[in-house]
Amino acid sequence: MASDAIEDLLQEGRTFPPPDAFKRAALQTSADIYDEAHADREGFWAREAAELDWFEEWDTILEWDAPHAKWFVGGKLNVSYNCLDRHIEAGHGDQVAFHWEGEPGDTRTITYTDLLADVSRAANGLKALGVEKGDRVAVYMPMIPELPVIMLACARIGAVHSVVFGGFSAAALRDRINDSDCKVLVTADGGYRRGSVAPLKPACDEALEDTPSIEKVLVVKRGDNDVEMVAGRDLWWHEHVDSQDATCEPESMDAEDLLYLLYTSGTTGKPKGIMHTTGGYLTQVAFTHRYVFDLKPDTDVYWCAADIGWVTGHSYIVYGPLANRATSVMYEGVPNHPEEDRFWDIIERYQVTQLYTAPTAIRAFMKWGDEHPAKHDLTSLRLLGTVGEPINPEAWIWYHQQIGGERCPIVDTWWQTETGGMMIAPLPGATTTKPGSATFPLPGISATIVDDKGEEVGVPGGGYLVLDQPWPSMLRGIWGDEQRFKDTYWSRFEGRYFAGDGAKRDADGYYWLLGRVDDVMNVSGHRLSTTEVESALVSHPSVAEAAVIGRADAQTGQAIAAFVTVRGGIEADEALATELRNHVATMISPIAKPASLLFTADLPKTRSGKIMRRLLKDIAEDKALGDTTTLADASIVDSIKDRYLSGND
Ligand code: WTA
Repeated sequence: MASDAIEDLLQEGRTFPPPDAFKRAALQTSADIYDEAHADREGFWAREAAELDWFEEWDTILEWDAPHAKWFVGGKLNVSYNCLDRHIEAGHGDQVAFHWEGEPGDTRTITYTDLLADVSRAANGLKALGVEKGDRVAVYMPMIPELPVIMLACARIGAVHSVVFGGFSAAALRDRINDSDCKVLVTADGGYRRGSVAPLKPACDEALEDTPSIEKVLVVKRGDNDVEMVAGRDLWWHEHVDSQDATCEPESMDAEDLLYLLYTSGTTGKPKGIMHTTGGYLTQVAFTHRYVFDLKPDTDVYWCAADIGWVTGHSYIVYGPLANRATSVMYEGVPNHPEEDRFWDIIERYQVTQLYTAPTAIRAFMKWGDEHPAKHDLTSLRLLGTVGEPINPEAWIWYHQQIGGERCPIVDTWWQTETGGMMIAPLPGATTTKPGSATFPLPGISATIVDDKGEEVGVPGGGYLVLDQPWPSMLRGIWGDEQRFKDTYWSRFEGRYFAGDGAKRDADGYYWLLGRVDDVMNVSGHRLSTTEVESALVSHPSVAEAAVIGRADAQTGQAIAAFVTVRGGIEADEALATELRNHVATMISPIAKPASLLFTADLPKTRSGKIMRRLLKDIAEDKALGDTTTLADASIVDSIKDRYLSGND
């Protein structure tokens, strides 16, 4: 076996063509669109860009001087105009943009007309604080309507928003503010999580002790928790914004003007400020949102259950849906408050048609039990989506059966903060899906898989995923760090974008994402994906969730260490551990059998739900623990560590 290919051992044979009823009404039912886009990629994207309203037409579709792309050069537009005004001018002002629901059960219904007025007032409010075109505005908020409002307000006046997820620590907020010299911070007193108010303002106060660029802080009253307001610096939103004029002319922005920064973690500690611009970004998120979710704006109620603090929320709660005049659900809180059926209750009450969520959430729902979705009428759903990590086939099948009633196509969408929009995903009316595969690069997107030396591995074959043609919503750089931009993404395979993910294509050319390449293990010279071993574990009926890492081993290079959460009512004992290790051996190969297996009540995850493999690796190798401020429940780490060290091997 060549050492530069990732071994392809776990086979998934089931296929799901588009359901007939879905296909009959779908926007896109033919695969011709792939060929059309392939024949003239730039022309394809120009046709999609023309679906937006431009103040001035572009001169050149694409200028590509790797690694720098400029799309729709010379074109002028405004993102908030495209997301709001044009729909109202077309007679849809009374359509609901957001059915917002707070965790305690309070609701707000916001039409496109309401949203434009709110955005205009907020835009005027920002101007009154001295915010000008090109200035950076930090945003640190719960999932409340003022969050999309302030983002669109920035877009309206040409300011650049930098949203920092509300679960980040004061130090993380401070570093992000300082990296791009934000002028204003917009926050809230607090927001609801798990039945009580999680304060935000105190973390801001702590961060602001050391952020010389911040001049003003705008604070939304949400949690009603006690906060300190610093005279001359802090203003209440309801006092400053509500009294502003409800009209504000949208700024004419260049297609390549910066729309936002979003920080994402890399392999080193310092986060990267990923830069997204205006015209190409909006074109791709609108296109992908419409066709991957088969959006029918007149009748659908779409729900992306991500947090706007992550890129999924930027692209598929705010910009894509609003550009397409979607009616969306937006929910503030956690999925198990007050009960484990909160999502299914929301879907039933709002008659949600599309649900977009993460595999980690789906596995949690599986663990909580089938009775929760079973209590609700979910027949309004007609499509399901996933994002954020590879979905193991068992979770896919559960989602398909228990949530989708076997009638909804599932779109598994691969993309990244850096790609801005979806890249590899099915077209639900045209593509036959396979559980666990994101299927094919979307029309207009070109990807391939290469080995260590940058040679294409062919079909079937596994290796590193690269994007070998520019795409409209691609990152334009890392804020203030051109060298890191080149080094991280463009130097490993000259002229091609290195995504950092392992992938394989099966004999039919389907793409299977195998996790980050740092998660690829090397056991006795065999390269194995953590995802494949995890999938094998989770396919066992006793397992709810599993995480696998390769820990250093003197003999084999790396040894596989598994961390497993069992389903409710299952006894986690030595016999089961043996059975599971043998199960992996049967499902994949004896070389994939975990050397150690630890049962744990929960797995350490970032707030966005990604399993913190690095931390598990440290536990397995007993290194000093790194920064755990993004952990959802930091105590999990200690309990895993204690048990691991008390002789599980
Ligand atoms: C992973 C989230 C497999 C992948 C939009 C990627 C996925 C990273 C999928 C980006 C998927 C995302 N299948 N893996 N459908 N979607 N990933 O920047 O490792 O938070 O590189 O963007 O998540 O995470 P990010």
